[in-house]
Amino acid sequence: MAAINAVTDLTVEGDIGVVTLNSPPVNALSAQVREGLKNAFEAAIADPAVQAIVLICEGKTFIAGADISEFGKAMTGPSLQDVQNTIENSPKPVVAAIHGTALGGGLEVALVAHYRVAVPSAKAGLPEVNIGLLPGAGGTQRLPRIVGVEKALEMVTSGQHVPAKAALAMGLFDSLVEEGALRDGAIAFARVALAEGRPLKKVRDLSDKVEAARGKPEIFAEFRKANARKFRGFLAPENNIKCIEAAVNLPFDEGLKEERRLFMELMTGSQSAAQRYVFFAERQAAKIPDVPDDTPAIPVKKVGVIGAGTMGGGISMNFLNAGIPVTIIEAKQENLDRGVGIIRKNYENTAKKGRLTQEDVEKRMGLLTPSMHLEDLADCDLIIEAVFELMEIKKEVFTKLDAIAKPGAILASNTSYLDIDAIAAVTRRPESVIGLHFFSPANVMRLLEIVRGEKTDKSVIATSMQIGKKIGKVAVLVGNCFGFVGNRMLAQRQREAQKLILEGAMPWDVDRVLYEFGLPMGPFAMSDLAGLDIGWDPAKTSSSTVREVLCEMDRRGQKNGKGFYDYDENRVAKPSPEVEKVILDFAEKRQIQRRQISDQEILERCLYPMVNEGAKILEEGKAIRASDIDIVWINGYGWPVYRGGPMFWGELVGLDKVLAGMKAFQEKHGDDFKPSALLERLVAEGKGFKDA
Ligand code: 3HC
Ligand code: NAI
Repeated sequence: MAAINAVTDLTVEGDIGVVTLNSPPVNALSAQVREGLKNAFEAAIADPAVQAIVLICEGKTFIAGADISEFGKAMTGPSLQDVQNTIENSPKPVVAAIHGTALGGGLEVALVAHYRVAVPSAKAGLPEVNIGLLPGAGGTQRLPRIVGVEKALEMVTSGQHVPAKAALAMGLFDSLVEEGALRDGAIAFARVALAEGRPLKKVRDLSDKVEAARGKPEIFAEFRKANARKFRGFLAPENNIKCIEAAVNLPFDEGLKEERRLFMELMTGSQSAAQRYVFFAERQAAKIPDVPDDTPAIPVKKVGVIGAGTMGGGISMNFLNAGIPVTIIEAKQENLDRGVGIIRKNYENTAKKGRLTQEDVEKRMGLLTPSMHLEDLADCDLIIEAVFELMEIKKEVFTKLDAIAKPGAILASNTSYLDIDAIAAVTRRPESVIGLHFFSPANVMRLLEIVRGEKTDKSVIATSMQIGKKIGKVAVLVGNCFGFVGNRMLAQRQREAQKLILEGAMPWDVDRVLYEFGLPMGPFAMSDLAGLDIGWDPAKTSSSTVREVLCEMDRRGQKNGKGFYDYDENRVAKPSPEVEKVILDFAEKRQIQRRQISDQEILERCLYPMVNEGAKILEEGKAIRASDIDIVWINGYGWPVYRGGPMFWGELVGLDKVLAGMKAFQEKHGDDFKPSALLERLVAEGKGFKDA
């Protein structure tokens, strides 16, 4: 065996040269990897004993793509195109041997091999779109030549990882070999190719699949139309589509040039910078400085959920989906029946869409035990309380739980705002108490805010982070404060939205500005969806806010066809003249002089205070790092990922500009806009949040 460099070896086995790559964790195409590959292939090509070459990787995966951490830095070593040219022009057949995931640049390397052999568990994909990019090493030109235009469009705009069997059916893989026998299987395949005198098949030379789509612009028009909602605001999907169009309409080399141009357009833009930042931020969030990965975790084999309302049902589904039995407790039989009924209905609906079999539905429902007795939670390893948001009730529940739960069980609350330490204090085991804050709908939203109490044990934190991952959530550890990270920042935006409609804007103006910014909906549309009467008490109402007045007028939101908006029978919202009048009257009573408010002011008034609150959260140590705050907002509140989260966005705007904006608003509107000390300091020192 000859070492080519620190990450690449070349071994000659009879007439086969085996190039082995070993660059943990994912064999990404760093400068060292590119150099190793180029030199190894050149050596194998030059070796007269070698008749065919196999490329294989050590570790958990084939090449998972370009090294994203190198993006934006000066390039060293050979380019990926150099490496690809060497492989594609090899006069000896090259077989890529794939396990794990061949992604992005990794698949693009495999696509210049003459053959691709994989194990059944392997997957292939071009996920660049997820980091705001497109496959920039020929992927968009080669892929449609193998799989056809429709499948290629789907793959490059979704970034999906295609399982080996499907990849074989599409022609992306040439052969599957037995799991665990990839090396021997690939060598055997190469020998057969040699013996049969198979041609040096170059994907670039295939033309029938792209020709079939030539002169049919409707394929692209329909694809764009069908996905318009999904792609809204994102630049990368459109550039990916344009590349596939180029593959159809241009000669291969011209198509490559167009791909390069469109790639660079994305690479130098802020969207990809934001999405690459989010990729690393998400992985960073899993790391907690004082709770190392090897902290012993508590095995969670059985879960208890208290409350079968909006949240309790969704929370339970997460565990049932992961095969973990759940006992769900209610105070009222009818609520228990309704809650369990909704869970079943959700599963049945998924089954109707073909994403679950009826057998799966029954299997999951079979893991659920409904009960009216808290005592039935005695053998649970993790118990999550999701009863009404009232401290007295939470305290009562936790006092009882303390007497019932087995020693070492984790006692969690799904509270949105309340003090976890105060809840923990009613138990004799505050070290076992933690906040597990799910977001509605809890079976869908990816965020899990984990609230660390003053006394929460490290093993309880480690277990919570692990279980979050297991049920497919993005877990972020936050500190205990009113509303934690997400809702605390949301309150800033909500306050300003309410003020703006009295000062001169209308709810639909505020909503439009935030929707165009990229949020799924604005605050007033959101209120209508949730119901204006949540937490509204007809016995205590006093017309003190616009919302109260609307509730008094029986405008309760989408559910009764009128809230801040009027809704037609298809639930389409229209601005409401009645609401407009309520707002004008309300402003007049308060002697507020209404004025024209620009879209820019709406945006800054709603978002700058959020960035400022994020800075306060950081200086108080309620979030470990600014990027954790961004992950909360992207996964819990639909902040557009291409804007990287509020903290990233604040830096993109310029912290100096945010600070100046806060000061100007403070002068006009008072101390709601008082800048945080951290923001002042960072601006004075010319630093960013990562230096906080
Ligand atoms: N570049 C640099 N680092 C990478 C990386 C990449 N492409 N892919 C993963 N990593 C790092 C992660 O940051 C993480 O580092 P850490 O341990 O220090 O946090 C480590 O590898 C392990 O990653 P995961 O925790 O994500 O491991 P999983 O086993 O859960 O997933 C994976 C593995 C499916 C390969 C996943 O990491 C992944 O999806 N990676 C990104 C794939 C991708 O986007 N490829 C395209 C890159 S762009 C490109 O190729 C451009 C080209 O067209 C020119
Ligand atoms: P909900 O009102 O829909 O459900 C609460 C359920 O708890 C009711 O069915 C009620 O009968 C039951 N319950 C009350 N006291 C009980 C007791 N002592 N024992 C057993 N069951 C009892 O409320 P929702 O919306 O599910 O909220 C629950 C918790 O989750 C609250 O703390 C809330 O702040 C929090 N939360 C709510 C979110 C939302 O969007 N609705 C989002 C995130 C957190």
